[in-house]
Formats: sequence, C-alpha cells, structure tokens
Amino acid sequence: MKGLTDRIAIVTGAAQGIGRAVAERLYEEGMCVVVADVDGEAAEAIAAGIGPEDRVLGLECDVSEKLDVRNLLAATLNAFGDVHVLVNNAGIVGGGDFLELTEDDFDRVLRVNLKGAFLLSQAVARHMVERVKEGDKPGTIVNMSSINAVFALPSQVPYSLSKAGISQLTRVCALSLAPHGIRVNAVGPGSIDTAMLASVNRDPAAKRMVLSRTPMGRIGEPSEIASIVAFLASDEASYMTGQTVYADGGRMPLNYVMPSS
Ligand code: NAI
Repeated sequence: MKGLTDRIAIVTGAAQGIGRAVAERLYEEGMCVVVADVDGEAAEAIAAGIGPEDRVLGLECDVSEKLDVRNLLAATLNAFGDVHVLVNNAGIVGGGDFLELTEDDFDRVLRVNLKGAFLLSQAVARHMVERVKEGDKPGTIVNMSSINAVFALPSQVPYSLSKAGISQLTRVCALSLAPHGIRVNAVGPGSIDTAMLASVNRDPAAKRMVLSRTPMGRIGEPSEIASIVAFLASDEASYMTGQTVYADGGRMPLNYVMPSS
C-alpha cells in the first residue's frame, strides 16, 4: 500500500494473534518492523520467523511500564534510526462479575490496554513531531479497539471500559496531532480467531452465541484485521483521522438474532 515501503513500524503485543498478523502484513508491505511483546522470547522467535534481523526485530516490552516504553523506543531508533508507524495492539482480558471485581483486576486491565497505549503514543508522537519539524513526512498511529468499546460486556467490565477509552484516546490524539499531520485511527474487531477467543472456540454453546450475533456466520481471521491496520497506516487513508473502523462480520448493525445450529 502507498507510503509504507521502507518505513519503520512498532507493533505491540505482536508475539501472537492479531499483533503477529499485523507485523507479518507490514513486513510484506516492505516495512521494517519491531515485534514488541511482554513475552520477549516469543517476540524474538516470531520476529526471526517473519524476516531477517535487519528488517524485523523482536523486543521485550511491557507497555504498561514507562521505562519499558522508553527502552522500546530507544532500541527501535538504535536499530532502524526512526519510527513512522505505531500499532498499539497489546491487550488483555480480565474481569468477572461486577460485584466481585477487585481493584487489582481493574488496574491490571486498564494499565495494559489503556495506559500502555497512552504511554507509547505520547513517547512515539513526541519523536514523530520532532521529525516533522526536521522536514520528514508525518507518521501514523493505529490503536486496537474492539466492538466492546460500544457494546457492554458485564463479565468484562475493565476490558469494556479500556476499549471505550481507546476510542476516545484515538480521537483526542487525532486532534492533538493533526496540526503536525500525524494521523491516529483505530480498528475495532468483532470476534477474531486468536488465543483470546480460545474459551469461545472450545465451548460450542459460547460459539453458537457469538455466531447468533454475526450476520456473516463466521469468526474473523487475524489477517482480516491486519489488512485494515495496513490501510489506516498507509497513505491510502491520508484524509482519515480520529476514526474507529469496526470489522465484525456485520455484528454492530444487527438488531435481531441470526439462526445458528
Ligand atoms: P492475544 O492474547 O492472542 O495476543 C495478545 C498479545 O499481547 C500476546 O502476545 C501478549 O503476550 C501480549 N501482551 C499482553 N500484555 C502485554 C503487555 N503488558 N505489554 C506488551 N504485550 C503484552 O490477543 P489478540 O486476540 O491477538 O488481541 C490483540 C488485540 O486485539 C487486543 O488489544 C485485543 O483486545 C484486541 N481484540 C481482540 C479480539 C479477538 O476476538 N481476538 C476482538 C477485539 C479486540
């Protein structure tokens, strides 16, 4: 896609699932990619499987730790000299019944899913703004939201809150960075076939429930989210900022229940 070749991307939570598919897709688009994950060994192994060390680097980073975020940016600049695309994908689920939820449950999910995206966006945007002042082309940020930014899940209170926060982070960052030409958008997936969905895939009743709300009648593939990330990061989306694009097999417009067996 236009404007990606030879540029440099950081993808967080990229050792598996959607993040891994995004890293693979951006590499195929000709980018250098940092595969960042709290599981550093897995990040290194996945990076080595995607491409050579001078194009793909696996780095350990807990996005909720400011020092890790600073080190990730420094290591990226050290290896590749710049960063043009940030994909804030790292995320965890966690929760339980609202009445039983602990403060720790709440903090853990919000720290990774929302604070992590804020810390990285701020650190990378500061670098991007300096590069724009030096005459470089503005970079872009893509956040991983969810249909749960809009749909409330009572069993996933902190998760739902974190994703609603991601949509608003996307909008406030878009407005803050628009004067510098830096675009910020998000993707909001429905149910995608990753480890995060394993409990649904294992349980036929849970899977039927998901499909009863999915007009396209199937779970999505990580590559179907990666292609939207690539589009939003590319110059093909040059007039889009502050948007969340939902890819959910038609779930959000649905106002009835699909027959499912
Ligand atoms: P996953 O569980 O397969 O992968 C998440 C990755 O993030 C893992 O490699 C994990 O090690 C990493 N990670 C966890 N905590 C981290 C931290 N503190 N710092 C850095 N990395 C960390 O999940 P999946 O499904 O690939 O999800 C990716 C993103 O997509 C998440 O933000 C999730 O909320 C979102 N999403 C997923 C959906 C799905 O159906 N799978 C639906 C909607 C949104």
